[in-house]
Amino acid sequence: MEDYGACAIELNLSCPHAKGYGMEVGTDPALVRSIVSGTKDAVSIPVWAKLTPNTHILNEIGRAVEDGGGDAIVAINTLKAMVISPEFARPFLSNRFGGLSGPAVRSVGVRDIYDLYDAVSIPLVGVGGISDWRDAAQYIMAGARAFQVGSAVAKEGPEVFGKINRDLLDFMRDHGYGRISDMVGAAHD
Ligand SMILES: Cc1cc2nc3c(=O)[nH]c(=O)nc-3n(C[C@H](O)[C@H](O)[C@H](O)COP(=O)(O)O)c2cc1C
Repeated sequence: MEDYGACAIELNLSCPHAKGYGMEVGTDPALVRSIVSGTKDAVSIPVWAKLTPNTHILNEIGRAVEDGGGDAIVAINTLKAMVISPEFARPFLSNRFGGLSGPAVRSVGVRDIYDLYDAVSIPLVGVGGISDWRDAAQYIMAGARAFQVGSAVAKEGPEVFGKINRDLLDFMRDHGYGRISDMVGAAHD
């Protein structure tokens, strides 16, 4: 495979509206394992797998990533959703379904990271509805070692990253957390 100078590959096994890839393959543990291990064989940089919340076997899928040699799990992608136009009595999106993101999905993402933390040993990256330090802290305390920000960048601009980091640092100082790793999984018994 071509070396593009990336520091990691993030496999999207989770897009909710793609035909033949994304969530369609990402909800089958055997396929997930083979995609991850095939990618690992083909590249020399870390391979992360991004998982979908649209499944009741997330832990099994997480273990398939780990068994396939995946270096980290990113969760969550969007929730499969739809909007219907009452005037036209038709789905609003031509594809019928789309992906729900932003604050509405945060509690789902936090719970998924919380579950995965007990199911796998590889690092977790939290994403879904993070727009401030409190959201990020929830993901970290659920078990994420890092977090990503999607929709909030579109709404608030790239400044949101600096703001989250500064405010998170203030929180950590006030509560005696010296480093992120001191907070990882703190919400577990
Ligand atoms: C417009 C849009 C495009 C997206 N495209 C991708 C994509 O190409 N690959 C991917 O893995 N996730 C994609 N996502 C999912 C986001 O990366 C993220 O997992 C999800 O939106 C939840 O995070 P957020 O609430 O911070 O946006 C997309 C989300 C949105 C809203």
